[in-house]
Amino acid sequence: MVVADVGLFSFSSCIPSLSPPPPRLRFSFTRTRRLAVASMSDDPVREWILSEGKATQITGIRSIGGGCINRASRYDTDAGSFFVKTNRSIGPSMFEGEALGLNAMYETRSIRVPKPFKVGPLPTGGSYIIMEFIEFGGSWGNQSELGRKLAEMHKAAKSEKGFGFDVDNTIGSTPQINTWTSDWIEFYGVHRLGYQLKLARQQYGDSLIYEKGQRLVKNMAPLFDGAVIEPCLLHGDLWSGNISSDKNGDPVILDPACYYGHNEAEFGMSWCAGFGGSFYNAYFEVMPKQPGFEQRRDLYMLYHYLNHYNLFGSGYRSSAMSIIDDYLRMLKV
Ligand SMILES: *[C@@H]1O[C@H](CO)[C@@H](O)[C@H](O)[C@H]1NC(C)=O
Ligand SMILES: *[C@@H]1O[C@H](CO)[C@@H](O)[C@H](O)[C@H]1NC(C)=O
Ligand SMILES: *[C@@H]1O[C@H](CO)[C@@H](O)[C@H](O)[C@H]1NC(C)=O
Repeated sequence: MVVADVGLFSFSSCIPSLSPPPPRLRFSFTRTRRLAVASMSDDPVREWILSEGKATQITGIRSIGGGCINRASRYDTDAGSFFVKTNRSIGPSMFEGEALGLNAMYETRSIRVPKPFKVGPLPTGGSYIIMEFIEFGGSWGNQSELGRKLAEMHKAAKSEKGFGFDVDNTIGSTPQINTWTSDWIEFYGVHRLGYQLKLARQQYGDSLIYEKGQRLVKNMAPLFDGAVIEPCLLHGDLWSGNISSDKNGDPVILDPACYYGHNEAEFGMSWCAGFGGSFYNAYFEVMPKQPGFEQRRDLYMLYHYLNHYNLFGSGYRSSAMSIIDDYLRMLKV
């Protein structure tokens, strides 16, 4: 039995801050060595799982995902499994933002997302988030189910505070500012395009893209003519890496950068998402296509192209610039 238990514990050297005490079984015959077990408060993840998590025993901890890069682990217990992410270099605010986003999506009871349970600081510095563990299925899932459920989420969650979110979050590692704003065109112009344009000027001295981009921002209002724009809850970073499916084949979305925005902005990463015709057909059955959808498509991609430019460098500049140039030509400004 001991051997079997040890087999479960493929401890990763990548999670030193959380290296859990060895399995209980290994201590049951040498009681004195229990002193070596870290006291509960030294390991808040363990403490939560064994109290509010309603487990009496942690039977295994495995590092999953990218190991060292992700610092993600699966905790198996007699009360089910938990998914735990830790970051040793930052405070809890990033994970608090993630938890707020996941919870907002979870509350819509539409598309499946992991339910967040607990966020907090680690005694050694850094922070953690504990959430529901979802067993992923093998396939990418059903595109029309994904479209329909995503639309149901957009439809279910509207905000009375306007466009924005209760906290700022990050898109990739770039800050994403979510200050509540009553007007969508202003919000998208200032906190999305404007923020990225400023960043490009700051980090690359790229005043050309900044100036042209700002000219687009000041003149983009006609692109929204005839559209009814409501603040819908968006995942915010929907690309194939953040889409999966559970064991039943039901779609699951992960790692959000949530905010309330125009639903069409959700497709801003569609160049990396592989959405097909059945996805869009199912989506529009629930959230009908608004007039001018096609002419705003690139505008919503522009935010993410600019973000990629800021994150990964000049390879993405020409995509962003040609979108801007095309709009300036089309709008004759
Ligand atoms: C921790 O957060 C920092 C800042 O956002 C990020 O650069 C780093 O990749 C994160 N590390 C892990 C292991 O998540
Ligand atoms: C996807 O789901 C729809 C119902 O939403 C169903 O009609 C269709 O057959 C499914 N497709 C596949 C490939 O399972
Ligand atoms: C979700 O996307 C972000 C990039 O925006 C990435 O850092 C993260 O690892 C993705 N999540 C998964 C589960 O791959």
